[in-house]
Amino acid sequence: MRPSTFEASSVPLSTNKHLLRWVEKMAELTRPAAIHWVDGSEEEYQALCSEMVARGTFTRLNQDLWPGCFLARSDPSDVARVEDRTFICSLSKDNAGPTNNWVDPFEMRRKLKSLFRGCMRGRTMYVLPFSMGPIESPFSRIGVELTDSPYVVVNMRIMARIGLRVFQEIDKDIKRVVPCMHSVGVPLGPGARDVPWPCNSEKYIVHFPETREIWSYGSGYGGNALLGKKCFALRIASNIARDEGWMAEHMLILGVENPQGEKTYVAAAFPSACGKTNFAMMIPPAGFEGWKIWTVGDDIAWIRADETGHLRAINPEAGFFGVAPGTSPKTNPNAIATLSRNTIFTNVALTPEGGVWWEGLTDTPPAECEDWQGQRWTPEIGKETGRKAAHPNARFTAPASQCPCIDPKWDDPEGVPISAFIFGGRRARTIPLVFQAFNWSAGVYVGATMGSETTAAATGAVGKVRRDPMAMLPFCGYHMGDYFRHWLKMQRGLSATPKIFHVNWFRKDEDGNFLWPGFSQNMRVLKWIVDRVHSRAAGKETPIGWVPRYEDICWDGLTYSREQFEAVEEFSRTAWRSEVIGHEELFIELHDHLPPEMVYERELLICRL
Ligand code: OXD
Ligand code: MN
Repeated sequence: MRPSTFEASSVPLSTNKHLLRWVEKMAELTRPAAIHWVDGSEEEYQALCSEMVARGTFTRLNQDLWPGCFLARSDPSDVARVEDRTFICSLSKDNAGPTNNWVDPFEMRRKLKSLFRGCMRGRTMYVLPFSMGPIESPFSRIGVELTDSPYVVVNMRIMARIGLRVFQEIDKDIKRVVPCMHSVGVPLGPGARDVPWPCNSEKYIVHFPETREIWSYGSGYGGNALLGKKCFALRIASNIARDEGWMAEHMLILGVENPQGEKTYVAAAFPSACGKTNFAMMIPPAGFEGWKIWTVGDDIAWIRADETGHLRAINPEAGFFGVAPGTSPKTNPNAIATLSRNTIFTNVALTPEGGVWWEGLTDTPPAECEDWQGQRWTPEIGKETGRKAAHPNARFTAPASQCPCIDPKWDDPEGVPISAFIFGGRRARTIPLVFQAFNWSAGVYVGATMGSETTAAATGAVGKVRRDPMAMLPFCGYHMGDYFRHWLKMQRGLSATPKIFHVNWFRKDEDGNFLWPGFSQNMRVLKWIVDRVHSRAAGKETPIGWVPRYEDICWDGLTYSREQFEAVEEFSRTAWRSEVIGHEELFIELHDHLPPEMVYERELLICRL
């Protein structure tokens, strides 16, 4: 074991007395061996990484091949967000709604107090200040995470703005700070040996919407432990946004630049595993010379109206916490370039040269590697046992600034103007490649009723459509019916209403073949969307909305026949009649909070069908 290189610094980096008192109180509760105030410097980052290498949490990759990169292997039981252990503890159960797990906040506080009592013994408690959004932005929000995980600190340094600059902001005492408690839940007795990835089999990911607090216990994994991301930027922020009249959405943001230099920004919501990162970083195909896609964000958008009544969005994050499997120089060359240095990989395979590999990275797997659990893996072993080299939810944590197509305005404090929203899901049948909703409330209905087919990776029947409104099912921190109402209300303050579209890259023919080539060809759909936004593309009216005709899409550089297009764009009354019955399943669950507009939109749709 290399000697430890990290020295905790217990000198407070803030003078804010509320913060000092809270840190003291939480240290009394959790009893850490040391307290470290995170300054966010490069030296601190390197020291923490070296410390984790020494403890076996990190493997330093071959620095000639992967400069500045590390591999972490989690405990095999701590590999994903735990939706069934995620709670919204609002004062009233009705406020959390039927799509969230609810526990009485007083009861939950009692439980958390007992879980956190002494839970950091033998460990260092890091006082980690972070800003979601550029520090100087009026959009941005501040949190402080108290965590006993150095893995969390180094990942958060990539995913958010952290450290001294944020303490200075806190000291001004003008922004409310969201307190975030996190522990892996494994106290160390005197002389006890630590494991590389401590975690507890009992997990609690808890949100108190009224007091804007987060408490996370038992997991060290991304979405459960990097509390700025899903917990703050979506679940708590959706509550703040509702109260303050803005939107916190599970959306990518991208800019489309045409050869004339005109830039149009859109935000898009797709459920997990539907290609948000790939879409956000798309490289236009042959035939689209002079066009460019610029990435603002790949996962979360905070959106609000400016004083002229136009929606503007920021990406509150500073990095990408992307799914590695399936990411390749073919599917997403920009992501590959982004993760080529200064990246933390979690649960990917390790090659004998000290590099990383995952399913889909190359057509030919390495002859031999260590799988995500450190066991020998060969393609033959994989074939015989079905074991994957990388966990299907293996991740890369990479700085957004390293992305070759990062938008010059990606961290503009004022955000970027949003001209269109795109919803999408994975649907083998029924849903055309693209359609445009007739207006805002019809578009909110489209988002509210969107669904995606479950894959073999998830439990339950394969190919079953799960409704995932606006891709926010696991992330909306209050009643989903009220969330639809908030969407409807947002339009009232706008002088220009963004157009709303729905896309489906995953439609299949009778033999199960994809009807649309996907990836960079999605640019053709995006061009139609942008042209519709600027009122220079035609379309055809159908009962579900406006659709492009064959001649409305640019086919330069691709051979795709009228018949093929008609198949991928087909609208079937019979199929849509069953689809509407599926919408009703969700609406029944939400009925007592469902805005009347949703019921009317459904009725109108039925009439048109
Ligand atoms: C994510 C998710 O990690 O949606 O972005 O699960
Ligand atoms: Mn996501």
